[in-house]
Amino acid sequence: MYRPFDLLLASAFAAVTNAAFSTFVYPADKGNLTFALSAASTGDVYVHLSAPAAYQWVGVGTGSEMSGSVMWIVYAGSDKGGITLSPRLSEGHVEPSFSDQINCALVNGEGYHNSIDRTVSTRYYSANFHCTNVTTLGHGDGKLNLGNAKQPFLYAWGPTDGAISSASNNAGIKRHDSYGTFWMDMTKATTSNSAVAAVPTGAALLSTTNAGADGKAENDGDKVGPAHAAIMLAAFAIIFPLGAVLLRFLESVKIHGIVQAIGVFAAIVGVGMGVYLSTLYNHSKDVSSGHQVFGLILLVLLLCQWAIGFYHHLRFRKYKKPTIYGRIHLFLGPAIVLGGIINGFTGFNFSGDSHNNVYYGIAVAIILVIVFTLLGWKKWSKRRQQKGTQMMDDNEEPEHDHLGLNLLRGSHNVL
Ligand code: HEM
Ligand code: HEM
Repeated sequence: MYRPFDLLLASAFAAVTNAAFSTFVYPADKGNLTFALSAASTGDVYVHLSAPAAYQWVGVGTGSEMSGSVMWIVYAGSDKGGITLSPRLSEGHVEPSFSDQINCALVNGEGYHNSIDRTVSTRYYSANFHCTNVTTLGHGDGKLNLGNAKQPFLYAWGPTDGAISSASNNAGIKRHDSYGTFWMDMTKATTSNSAVAAVPTGAALLSTTNAGADGKAENDGDKVGPAHAAIMLAAFAIIFPLGAVLLRFLESVKIHGIVQAIGVFAAIVGVGMGVYLSTLYNHSKDVSSGHQVFGLILLVLLLCQWAIGFYHHLRFRKYKKPTIYGRIHLFLGPAIVLGGIINGFTGFNFSGDSHNNVYYGIAVAIILVIVFTLLGWKKWSKRRQQKGTQMMDDNEEPEHDHLGLNLLRGSHNVL
């Protein structure tokens, strides 16, 4: 197992042993997560945290569950090789928020690396910091108790894609790929002599001491984000265009109606997922981004599109005449589909996965070329057919409807 730079230094110099400390080392799949803590009975807490930089972020917090936890989260800073320490408070199963109530600062000094360090083949976040008021924050078992011989802590790390480069301690982090809990004996980590309390370093970081894991890390991950994207993109880039193509090719308004109804149902489910997703992240919880607002407007327009089509159908059946509602239905449909496709691009930007726009753009371009080719070809062949029919019998009315739907007369009025 590779070790962070601070640990290599430790073995090289067989160095300093702290007066009082507890250390937890967890072998994550990309390398060790090391969390070492030393405290003074005054409430000052000194921490070393290191973990593989392959993860978007790593974090350790007080308590056995997110709610009430005081967390220290580390991710890549805006300078190459730099880190950002983001102390956050958590109120449950949503992204924890940065809090300037938590008084923590990085500690510099010999043997302390506050950076991304490279060992033979692994890059490690390494942070050393001092906090003055952690014992006053958090709630439940998330309130750090220096007299507790089995103080619960939790740890988690983010996905391996979507690296953050941010100096802001409020940067958006994705839901964890894994999380777990451990305990530490705070009585062994706390000294009454505040002069000797310091960030653990050297040999103090080598192995689990006065601490223990509660089983293995649980695998987690954001499944709702990809499901939201898949279902919304399927609705707007596949199902609705397919419904348009089938209308022309099968000339069946019933099948068109069924396919578009499936699309509307998918969009309602997808928006439901989007609304749930919005509650998880700080950047989305206010539902004020262009992506969310425009997405909600599109859903309303989709429902209107359905209602307008249906109303038009009722009027047509009664008066046997084309209606303005039929016209609106015909032009609003493609506009909504185009809007939905565009909202896919803004979605990837919003979630920080803008690299996916390249693949999405290529897929959309291919689909649009196929759809327009099919529709264009159908229109062209229909015109040819009609010209032929007209030449055969000039007195007979052409078979297409006045809205250019190329359907049997009146059939476009079914939906
Ligand atoms: C975007 C940020 C985060 C989101 C959306 C999130 C969401 C969630 C959700 C939904 C669960 C419940 C999982 C289940 O029961 O299947 C959970 C559990 C958990 N999370 Fe997070 N989390 C985030 C950040 C963090 C951080 C930063 C840590 C630690 C530093 C953490 C540690 C844990 C732990 C230990 C659990 C299991 C204990 C519990 O249920 O509270 N989480 N999280
Ligand atoms: C036409 C409608 C919509 C389409 C095509 C669409 C598509 C997408 C796509 C492709 C993503 C990127 C997902 C990822 O990278 O994993 C995304 C993200 C997201 N969408 Fe939508 N979406 C739509 C409507 C909505 C609505 C109405 C809401 C909520 C009110 C919403 C909330 C979100 C949120 C919160 C994220 C980002 C989550 C994160 O930070 O990772 N979306 N959407």
